Amino acid sequence: MAVLVTGGAGYIGSHTSIELLEEGYDVVIVDNLCNSDKIVLERIKELSGKTPKFYEIDITDKEKMEVVFKENEIDSIIHFAALKAVGESVSMPMEYYSNNIGSTLVLFELMKKYNVKNFVFSSSATVYGDPETLPIVEDSSLSVTNPYGRTKLIVEDMLRDICFADKSLNVAILRYFNPIGAHKSGRIGEDPNGIPNNIMPYITKVAVGQLPYLNVFGDDYDTADGTGIRDYIHVVDLANGHVKALEKLSENPGLVTYNLGTGKGYSVLQLVNAFSKASGKEIQYKITERRPGDIAACYADPTKAEKELGWKAKYGIDEMCEDSWRWQSQNPNGYKK
Ligand code: NAD
Ligand code: UD1
Repeated sequence: MAVLVTGGAGYIGSHTSIELLEEGYDVVIVDNLCNSDKIVLERIKELSGKTPKFYEIDITDKEKMEVVFKENEIDSIIHFAALKAVGESVSMPMEYYSNNIGSTLVLFELMKKYNVKNFVFSSSATVYGDPETLPIVEDSSLSVTNPYGRTKLIVEDMLRDICFADKSLNVAILRYFNPIGAHKSGRIGEDPNGIPNNIMPYITKVAVGQLPYLNVFGDDYDTADGTGIRDYIHVVDLANGHVKALEKLSENPGLVTYNLGTGKGYSVLQLVNAFSKASGKEIQYKITERRPGDIAACYADPTKAEKELGWKAKYGIDEMCEDSWRWQSQNPNGYKK
């Protein structure tokens, strides 16, 4: 029996595939490589000592996806594949709706036909909008402000409807806080196209001299140093959360929802300082305007995942920064030669 990992060549999917292979799962990866590189598959093999089956397919193509279900005995699906750039989603909403929602519909149609019952979904803390209370618990109110976030909330709603109608399904909605860091080996990591939108890849590109300085988006928030606070989580901890979620689904829980975060918030300036300490590199920065749509603070209450999944983040901010730096310094151009 195999786990189908969609988007398994991407940042979080590649780290999760390694953890799954190390735990003894058979892994089938489907990725159209729209935001990743084939070389990732070689690195997964190098790090795990195992070769996952790979299909270069667009998941919205139901006919091609059916071949994957025919050729493999799929037991569970972890659905990472999605478009994820907030700014781009505002200018190209159709692509985001069609890819992120369309891919999930195709998977559920095929799950029904091939009797697959277990599904893990990559959601995001973005579904909490501007939280009313901190830390954020899973039953907080949900709201979103951009098309990317809306695709996550729409899929979550869809999953709740589908599971209400079919009690034989088991679905884990995992709401990630802010994944950073990389595999300890420095062989796989985050490799965004162009100028990064998210903070850690931006900082690491400043550190290797590819960008002159970091723009700190606002220092007038209602936080201790005025800069935005987030719950950064090591991508390997996040990957392990998926292994725990699969174990949970084997107990037939129906639909379950978990925050995957550390529960600790760090400001932009605290993150910059932690990175400088870990890398020995001074990070130049300038305070600029707030970024539209940003919120002051966002961090998880991860108690539910700890109690019900037996999962807790192990790595702290120093290791996250060290591992991000090892990846970027050893691969200054990411996966590109
Ligand atoms: P990523 O872009 O690195 O990985 C996504 C992978 O999916 C890529 O390899 C891409 O080529 C593939 N893909 C996209 N559309 C596809 C399609 N139609 N068919 C086949 N492959 C397709 O992103 P990531 O950071 O690893 O994120 C994984 C998931 O986690 C996404 O659903 C994302 O929305 C969610 N998420 C990410 C973050 C984050 O900060 N990275 C935070 C919260 C949630
Ligand atoms: C962003 C997305 C969110 C998505 C998440 C993970 C927006 C508005 N939100 O969240 O939907 O789920 O990424 O992919 O884009 N910062 C700077 N300078 C930079 C970049 C960021 O100061 O160059 C600050 C931000 O203001 C924020 C913090 O760093 O306070 C983290 O930013 P980022 O990494 O983009 O993540 P989020 O804004 O939390």
